[in-house]
Amino acid sequence: MKQIDWDNLGFDINPAEKMFVARHTKGVWDSGGIVDYGTIQLFPSAVILNYGQGLFEGMKAYRTKDNRIAMFQPHANARRLNDGCRRLCMPELDEDFFVESIKALVRENRDYVPPYGKGDLYIRPILFGSGQMLGVSPATEYMFIIFMSPVGPYFKGGFSGIHLQICTDYHRASLLGTGGVKAVGNYAASLMPKALARDEGFDEVLYLDARCSTYVEEVGSANFFLIKNGILSTPRLGGSILPGTTREEVLMLAEHSFKLIPQGRDIRYDELFTAEELFCTGTAAVITPILSVTHEGKPHTIGNGKPGALTRKLYDELKGIQLGERPDIFNWLTYID
Ligand code: COI
Repeated sequence: MKQIDWDNLGFDINPAEKMFVARHTKGVWDSGGIVDYGTIQLFPSAVILNYGQGLFEGMKAYRTKDNRIAMFQPHANARRLNDGCRRLCMPELDEDFFVESIKALVRENRDYVPPYGKGDLYIRPILFGSGQMLGVSPATEYMFIIFMSPVGPYFKGGFSGIHLQICTDYHRASLLGTGGVKAVGNYAASLMPKALARDEGFDEVLYLDARCSTYVEEVGSANFFLIKNGILSTPRLGGSILPGTTREEVLMLAEHSFKLIPQGRDIRYDELFTAEELFCTGTAAVITPILSVTHEGKPHTIGNGKPGALTRKLYDELKGIQLGERPDIFNWLTYID
C-alpha cells in the first residue's frame, strides 16, 4: 500500500488498490469482480466517448469513533443511479447488487479508509455505454465500475466557508434536460463557468434557473440552502436540480433536531442578500457555509461573514451521526464489518 499523508488529505485522486468492474452484454449484467485499479480499454466509437451516455454517483465510507467502517444510506444512491439509467436509456442495476458490490470493495480497500477524524473514503460508482455506435443511439454494451479514494474536504478549508459568484452568463441545466440526474455531461458543462469564477477569486458559482435567470438552482457540485426566520429553504426539485442525498438528510435533521421549518420552493436570487445563513450540501461538500455571494460585481456578505450558528449545528449533527458520535436517529448508517 502506498504511503498516504492522512493529515493533509484534499479532494484528490489517491486511488485505493482495488476497483470493481461489471459488464452488461447481450442484455444482462454479469456478476462482476474485484480487480487491481488500473486502465480500461474502450473503442474510440464507445457511446460514452462520443455521446456522453454515462452517470456517476458520489458516496463515502466513514471510520467511526469506535473504529468501525460505515456507509450512509447506500440504497438511496442505488435508486438515484437507476433513475438516471432510465433517463439515459441505460440498463438498471439491481439495488442490492449495487450496495453489496460497494461493500465488498470497501472491505477489500479497508486500509484506505482514513483514521477516525482524518477524512473519509470517497466512493465513485460510474455506469456508461461502452459499446460501439456511430449514430446517436443507446449503446448495446455497458460497464459499471467502482473506484475509491481517501479524501479530505471538497472545498479547501472545509467548514471555514466559501465565496460564490452568482452566474449570470451560463446555466447549469435546462428545464426538461438532465439536471435532475447525475449525467456526466452536466459536470462537463460546469467546468468553464467555474474556471471563470475561480479566475476572479471565487470558490464556485451559484447557478440560476434556465427559464428566467431569477431563481437559485444549485452550486453545481452541491445543493443550496437558505435560513431566515426559522425557515430552512432549498430550491424545490423540478427536474433541473439534483436530488442530493445530503439535501434530503439535512431537511429531515433540520426539522427533527432544530425545529426549523423545511421548505422546497422557488428562491429568488435577491432573497440571498438578506438571508441569515446560507450553505451548500453534498456528499463531497458535506455542509459548507457560504460567506458571501457576488451578483454582477457587487458582493453581499451573509450574516457577519462567518459560518452561521445553525449551519454549524446541522454540520455537527450530520457529521456526528456519520462518525458514530451521535445517535443514528433515522437509521442511516450501514456498517461494513
Ligand atoms: C458528491 O458530492 O459526491 C458529488 O458527486 C459532487 C461531485 C461533483 C464532487
